[in-house]
Amino acid sequence: MHLTLRQLEVFAAVARHLSYTRAAEELHLSQPAVSMQIRQLEEAAGLPLFEKLGKQIHLTQAGSEFFHYSQTVGRQLQELDEVIEALKGVHSGHLRISVATTANYFATRLLAAFSRRYPGTTFSLDVTNRKTLLDQLASNETDLVIMGKPPEELDLDATPFMENPLVIIAPPSHPLAAQKNIPLISLQDEVFVAREQQSGTRIAMERFFQERGVTLKTRMEMTSNSAIKHAVEAGLGLGIVSIHTLELELEAGRLVILDVEGFPIQRYWYLVTCTGKRLPPVAQAFFDFLMGEDAATLMQPGNLL
Ligand code: PGA
Repeated sequence: MHLTLRQLEVFAAVARHLSYTRAAEELHLSQPAVSMQIRQLEEAAGLPLFEKLGKQIHLTQAGSEFFHYSQTVGRQLQELDEVIEALKGVHSGHLRISVATTANYFATRLLAAFSRRYPGTTFSLDVTNRKTLLDQLASNETDLVIMGKPPEELDLDATPFMENPLVIIAPPSHPLAAQKNIPLISLQDEVFVAREQQSGTRIAMERFFQERGVTLKTRMEMTSNSAIKHAVEAGLGLGIVSIHTLELELEAGRLVILDVEGFPIQRYWYLVTCTGKRLPPVAQAFFDFLMGEDAATLMQPGNLL
């Protein structure tokens, strides 16, 4: 049977998602390109690999066998990659790191400081949502993740390395902007522009208010912090964001932080890996670097080691 690694990779994505569309999105391909690869693979196998029942596709028995072996091949290739990276050592290794949407605001500064210490290292940085980060850890698509606290029931090692305070932002003209020690209860009269349901910021914000019996009115949801900041500036409501997302807005007086009882919500940034994963030397070096330095100082612009 003649088949290519690319076809196996495309097949594995379709089998994982049980969707041509989602596989095409993940691989940045068009849907016809995905269908063509699967057709060619089915021709090579001489058997159908998927069947359609109603609107949903399912793996056939041959498809299940293919899925099993495609995962084994994927793991072997990954291991080969790791062995090669280990041979290169820290100084010319490639770091695969994925970070939560909010960590985008400082991850590149940490990487810049690291690459000054270890010139010759290269990186691929993926900025994505919490669910994708957990999927990437489970499928070993990344070495290290920077995110808020991951769920405890998963087999992950999470090490806190920096504080992540969440604050309430408002335009300077807002009536609460000048008040001190604003009671939490008065926020019930305000509307909020919030992050998407699965975001770490949103989960922490909901837990905080739920525990205190305060119900917030959410007018809009947005998947990006900068969209929230723009919406708050435009007067669409108050926002809750990590202090790390605020850069020039405070200095330029476009936004203010409200002095609300119980705020900031104190959270942490974690370095997360799969339990038992042997980190490639460059990833281990990055881990040790962050543990040995004060990350909050490193991420200040102009403060690169
Ligand atoms: P997020 O940030 O809100 O962008 O998901 C991660 C976190 O704070 O847990």
